[in-house]
Amino acid sequence: MTVTVAKEERVVLISGCSAGGIGHHLALELAAHGCRVFAGVRTLSKAQTLVDNPLIEAVELDVTDDASVDAAVAYVLAATGGRIDILVNNAGINCAGPTVEIPLSQVHQVFNTNFIGLARLCRTVAPVMMDRRQGTIVNVGSVSGYTASPWFGYYTATKAAVHAYSDSLRMELAPFGVSVVVVAPGRIKSNIVDNYTETILDGNNTRYTMARPAIEKAVMFSQTEGATPASQFASVVVPKLLHRSPAAYITYGDASSSIWCMYYVPPVILDYLLGSYFGTHQLAKDLQSPSLSSPATTSVVVWVALAAAALGILYTFF
Ligand SMILES: NC(=O)c1ccc[n+]([C@@H]2O[C@H](COP(=O)([O-])OP(=O)(O)OC[C@H]3O[C@@H](n4cnc5c(N)ncnc54)[C@H](OP(=O)(O)O)[C@@H]3O)[C@@H](O)[C@H]2O)c1
Repeated sequence: MTVTVAKEERVVLISGCSAGGIGHHLALELAAHGCRVFAGVRTLSKAQTLVDNPLIEAVELDVTDDASVDAAVAYVLAATGGRIDILVNNAGINCAGPTVEIPLSQVHQVFNTNFIGLARLCRTVAPVMMDRRQGTIVNVGSVSGYTASPWFGYYTATKAAVHAYSDSLRMELAPFGVSVVVVAPGRIKSNIVDNYTETILDGNNTRYTMARPAIEKAVMFSQTEGATPASQFASVVVPKLLHRSPAAYITYGDASSSIWCMYYVPPVILDYLLGSYFGTHQLAKDLQSPSLSSPATTSVVVWVALAAAALGILYTFF
């Protein structure tokens, strides 16, 4: 099908637009701002509520599949006379558990989706934008790409990879007039936990049995009370994306500022804070293991460090 796209309308391709997720709400918000949106989904029925909108069309898109990516991009280009103005790489999956115990099959899957899948779409769409000397690539990273925590070793590695990859891409595509933006969501209400159905601990083959409650709590972290609604996230982020010269990083959502700040916190304090929250300190106690330094010792170090920082601030400003 060929659609008539007005010159001022921007053509957008987004991956991962199933109902209830961030991509779904980005698609609606982009259409509300007058964009012509091609909403990528693995299963067309998951885009049913989107296609009521005359500016949105669903396209089948699995980012782990070369043929699917080629076909979706070719379809959009054929439908719009060769235009994709904005590519939003949103598709992603979770991966949680003890980092040394997560099966490699899951590791491949999460990297294949969150990082290689994103690169696959970038490599297919970027040349079109480079030849037209315009376009914006939006890569959805995560605040966990700034600051890693226990139990998400591979997920956070994919997101840190997305951030680093986007930094290189931004500098390499700028000479061609193409912008690259990282969107780093905080805690956003979506289907990400419901969609994650992998076994967290292998009952017979784990050294982390005592940490099970902490891991289960961690898996829910992004979805507990206070998580930002995905519609609110989209309504804040989309105007920033559509700005004439968008910022390199857009970080938004519950807990995003505090997690972003933690990037600058020294490891001794970070390990104390995150170890207390995510249960690795408790595990050390339960295992009665002589961890590097006991939580009690660490807490003294942390309080001394925080007091020194507070004194430094007082001295600087008063
Ligand atoms: N929610 C948060 O708190 C949060 C925080 C930071 C970053 N993020 C990131 O935000 C993005 C969107 O996640 P979400 O929270 O909206 O989760 P979600 O509701 O689970 O949505 C993820 C979307 O990605 C799609 N997807 C998964 N594998 C795919 C593949 N191989 N090819 C194409 N699409 C695929 C899913 O399709 P199906 O429905 O077919 O599975 C779904 O449409 C992800 O990159 C995630 O890492 C989320």
